[in-house]
Amino acid sequence: MNMNEPPHGAPAYAARRQRLSHAMGAGVAVIPTAPERTRNRDSQYPYRFDSYFFYLTGFPEPEAVLVLVAGESPRSILFCREKHEEREIWDGFRYGPPAARERFGVDEARAIERLDEDLVTLLADQPSLFYAPGADADWDARVMRWLNAVRAQARTGVSAPAQIHDVRTLLDEMRLVKDAAELATMRRAAGISAGAHQRAMRAVLPGRFEYEIEAELQHEFRRHGAQFPAYWPIVAGGANACVLHYRDNDAPLRDGDLLLIDAGCELDGYAADITRTFPVNGRYSGAQRAAYELVLAAQSAAIAQVRAGNPWNAPHDAAVRVLAQGMLDLRLLSGSLDETLEKETYRRFYMHRTGHWLGLDVHDAGEYKHGGNWRALGPGMTLTVEPGIYLRAAHDVPAEFHNIGIRIEDDVLVTDGDCEVLTRNAAKSVADVEALMRDGKH
Ligand code: GLY
Ligand code: MN
Ligand code: MN
Repeated sequence: MNMNEPPHGAPAYAARRQRLSHAMGAGVAVIPTAPERTRNRDSQYPYRFDSYFFYLTGFPEPEAVLVLVAGESPRSILFCREKHEEREIWDGFRYGPPAARERFGVDEARAIERLDEDLVTLLADQPSLFYAPGADADWDARVMRWLNAVRAQARTGVSAPAQIHDVRTLLDEMRLVKDAAELATMRRAAGISAGAHQRAMRAVLPGRFEYEIEAELQHEFRRHGAQFPAYWPIVAGGANACVLHYRDNDAPLRDGDLLLIDAGCELDGYAADITRTFPVNGRYSGAQRAAYELVLAAQSAAIAQVRAGNPWNAPHDAAVRVLAQGMLDLRLLSGSLDETLEKETYRRFYMHRTGHWLGLDVHDAGEYKHGGNWRALGPGMTLTVEPGIYLRAAHDVPAEFHNIGIRIEDDVLVTDGDCEVLTRNAAKSVADVEALMRDGKH
């Protein structure tokens, strides 16, 4: 990490901090980043900042805390590590408070060692404290020590915050509607991830192993500068595709099986989340094709429902209706459509929901209901649309469908009109997938 600007440019983060201060009205917000985590003995997991903290700062280092003082003259204070020549020789660059203030556009930056002492002063005579209660027991205890230290000064006339609010309630609503800079990053993350799926389709051959295909995905993510996979990739051949959170990625790919890949990169903190399901030998069999076309039709029906003003659940309802009818048509279920929907018998083969919010977290922040009702979709919201069908071997499932697991997942942006499919560059129709697998071999 060098002396970079934050990925969206300092003014974009200042605007988000200003909106948060405005929403707070008055009081002090404390938003720490994530700690470094040990993997084993002296090895750390790759460092990943806290999403809330990064949303408001773009600051990439651990041991940092953002403090916002709202009110008539709002200000932002970033607590971060001081420069340290020896540690920088071993572990790399640190901004240090003066450069952090300049590059990240906060009003002030201070050494992280000052946090406890300074917070006692900053919280004095403030009406309220905003933080994330319960997110971390150590932070809860630390915050209580600050509050008790402020209370201990009562006889000098100082008052402690009377109210504690969960700052996530405000931040989740902000994060749900992406700004222009976030959307630009998400489009890039989606494009890189779509390219990785295309690359995987070109690389698959019977006899290759799932991990070889995983390596193709990771190569494509990294060579475009994406820092991480947004979640552990699922590369699931044959029956493995019926394990929803399959992670082993260690089996050989067999001629005649399908391969389900659920993978997306994280770019500058933002996730993409794509699933494609395609034949190991490049041609869908009759049963595979019938099931695939069904999931594709369900996905199209769901995507058509991603419109501003529609309730969150409209895409799910549309997908379920198509899938349930298809399960009846394919004789996977019997009975009427109404009965299948009412008794939810389709859930044997489609047991998850059709999507989730997407952003800094792959399952992103934001409520799905308001006052007991599904909330309305609005422009700037980003979500996945990911119906599937999972047909384990069973005596009452026709043999030709055994061990077929299919999911098709795209990332979409709600607009004033038709939604924008951010991941549209990953081949999806039977014709496009088969053509890519036939003509795209290296
Ligand atoms: N890859 C996680 C999900 O699809 O929700
Ligand atoms: Mn996914
Ligand atoms: Mn998903």
